[in-house]
Amino acid sequence: MKIGIIGSGNIGGTLGQHWAKAGHEVMFSSRHPEELKSMAEKVGAKTGTVEEAAAFGEVILLAIPYGKVPDLAKQIGSLDNKILIDVANPYPQRDGNVAQKVIDDESQTATGYVASQFPGAKTVKAFNSIYFKVLEEKAFRSGNDRIAVQVCGDDEQAKQTVKRLIEDIGFAPQDLGDLSRGVLFEPDAPLYNQNLKIAEAEKLLSQIK
Ligand SMILES: NC(=O)c1ccc[n+]([C@@H]2O[C@H](COP(=O)([O-])OP(=O)(O)OC[C@H]3O[C@@H](n4cnc5c(N)ncnc54)[C@H](OP(=O)(O)O)[C@@H]3O)[C@@H](O)[C@H]2O)c1
Repeated sequence: MKIGIIGSGNIGGTLGQHWAKAGHEVMFSSRHPEELKSMAEKVGAKTGTVEEAAAFGEVILLAIPYGKVPDLAKQIGSLDNKILIDVANPYPQRDGNVAQKVIDDESQTATGYVASQFPGAKTVKAFNSIYFKVLEEKAFRSGNDRIAVQVCGDDEQAKQTVKRLIEDIGFAPQDLGDLSRGVLFEPDAPLYNQNLKIAEAEKLLSQIK
């Protein structure tokens, strides 16, 4: 698939390199795409501006600080019909009011807010609850040895695509249901940052459902 990475740091950089190694076409972007060239060249990926990555990808990985999301949405405009993987987590210390507001608003989930910024996109929440070092070091496993990656979304087809992308790099998708179920793996929620193998993650889920 063609995957546009917006935010190519710890998470975006790691995932983009894995997907390129797995055979996908990847474009890395950030506000400083020239700094991403050597990483991209190592795995045969491209670099570009955020607008170019947004146009390039059938799937867009959004991996920037949560507080920057509303401005980015204004900057790139619509992502109509594209699959948007939301990785961002709201941390008020880093993300200020944008994060505090969503945490205080009980009617809104973290990803629900991100999805509302890109109304035409098919938003899927995934990779928010896995530490990037685990992503880096425990990829390309098989069977029961795979680490669980929580995923949820309202568009079933888009979610299936993201689940395949999780499997392509040797992790095990743990499907939690629709987008509202993202609360289970927001910061401080039971499944957040557990980095468990899939059977252990399913056991934990059965205890909290
Ligand atoms: N680190 C983890 O283990 C982890 C795990 C799960 C989820 N997350 C979440 O994933 C997101 C990214 O975390 P990270 O640790 O990967 O952060 P990071 O290493 O600081 O990388 C952030 C990336 O976003 C780019 N960026 C920042 N502002 C931007 C903007 N306005 N437009 C375009 N690009 C921008 C940065 O490059 P430039 O500054 O050059 O633009 C950089 O490439 C956060 O929301 C975090 O909460 C992180």
